[in-house]
Amino acid sequence: MEGGLKAWGILLSIVLGVVSNWKQWARGSSPQVPCLFIFGDSVFDNGNNLALDTDVTVDYLPYGVDFPYGSTGRCSNGVNIADAIADLLGFEDYILPFGKGNCREFMGGVNYASGGSGILNTTGYLLGQRYTMDLQLYNHKIIASRIAKELGGADVANKYLGQCIYVVEIGYNDYLNNYYGEGYNSSKIYTPEQFAQLLVQTYETQLERLYNEGARKVAVFGLIRMGCMPAYKNIFGADESSCVDKLNQAAQLFNNKLQKALPKLNASLPGAIFTYINSYEIDSENVTGLGFKFTSTSCCHVPNGEIPCAALTYPCPNRDEHVYWDGAHYTEARARIFAKRAYQRQLPVEAYPYDISGLVKVPLDETDDHCSTWAINNGD
Ligand SMILES: *[C@@H]1O[C@H](CO)[C@@H](O)[C@H](O)[C@H]1NC(C)=O
Ligand SMILES: *[C@@H]1O[C@H](CO)[C@@H](O)[C@H](O)[C@H]1NC(C)=O
Ligand SMILES: *[C@@H]1O[C@H](CO)[C@@H](O)[C@H](O)[C@H]1NC(C)=O
Ligand SMILES: *[C@@H]1O[C@H](CO)[C@@H](O)[C@H](O)[C@H]1NC(C)=O
Repeated sequence: MEGGLKAWGILLSIVLGVVSNWKQWARGSSPQVPCLFIFGDSVFDNGNNLALDTDVTVDYLPYGVDFPYGSTGRCSNGVNIADAIADLLGFEDYILPFGKGNCREFMGGVNYASGGSGILNTTGYLLGQRYTMDLQLYNHKIIASRIAKELGGADVANKYLGQCIYVVEIGYNDYLNNYYGEGYNSSKIYTPEQFAQLLVQTYETQLERLYNEGARKVAVFGLIRMGCMPAYKNIFGADESSCVDKLNQAAQLFNNKLQKALPKLNASLPGAIFTYINSYEIDSENVTGLGFKFTSTSCCHVPNGEIPCAALTYPCPNRDEHVYWDGAHYTEARARIFAKRAYQRQLPVEAYPYDISGLVKVPLDETDDHCSTWAINNGD
């Protein structure tokens, strides 16, 4: 009996081995970069919030209805934009959430994104626990030190971390669950201009911290047209054919400042390569010709005034024809097309100075040995 099981086990592992090799052939080759690190909010979250005490978890059907592992905490019927980017970069598996996986799996990258989180610490606090951007960076510091341990030193770890791609999107909740959210006071303290300034300034220091942990190739995503998200059109009373102006204006104000901050950061941080993904522009693409028939309504059933799908309700059957899955997040179909543009822009305005495929190819600055600052600080 036991022998039989063992034989089965061996046979099974041979079969699985063949299958996984075959999968690798089918995908072509190994990933284009050794690692991918993902930061952000619910747009990129792939399960981080499951471990937290929060209202922002989507671990129930119909979420994940088209995902091979079902409901995993992704705000989508299937994959999200971060998953689609991992796919385009040639990663065989999805990048795991922080704290998941075995003791070496973080070598290929980690997804730190957390639904409800923002640039500011107070953002989203009425929703419960979340990994704010500062906490995501703290989690990344832990991973970076484990990578250093794995590779046998900070120097070699920094070289490794410099080859990775970093994708970062955040800021939606600073507006939707802070400035324009009920129960928050920032709109009484700041004008929209001042608030955008505060956000981008804070974001700059956060991106600098990422650089200090070895990041060099960083794709920073701007905000899409928040005012055209079905739930917010409903909540703020925009009609079917229009969007919420003040939310779209806030996104543009933020984007303009962010887009100007990146070349400044690039110039002040030796060897850094920050690139801007123009999400607003990509989101504005006319997708009617790409098979999307429903651009401003949710696919799943979203109760009035809410954002997530109601649990255990039937979603629309024609999910590939919908831009929006729930009240605020794309369907897998839209996420994949969005990711494609970020990876390989169709127009220069969609990503600059590089798209993600270009970012992969930029040679790293050989003179940037990560230790020069330390040496200068020591005065020798
Ligand atoms: C935000 O939180 C982080 C860590 O949780 C802390 O280090 C930082 O000082 C906080 N920022 C502000 C502005 O309170
Ligand atoms: C605004 O709200 C935050 C978070 O609750 C609180 O810490 C802060 O003191 C408030 N500020 C003002 C001016 O009311
Ligand atoms: C970044 O700055 C360096 C100089 O430090 C410059 O050579 C490079 O062209 C800049 N790259 C981008 C993408 O702005
Ligand atoms: C979008 O494209 C479709 C065909 O691809 C066209 O019929 C429609 O007029 C376009 N809409 C806008 C707003 O340009």
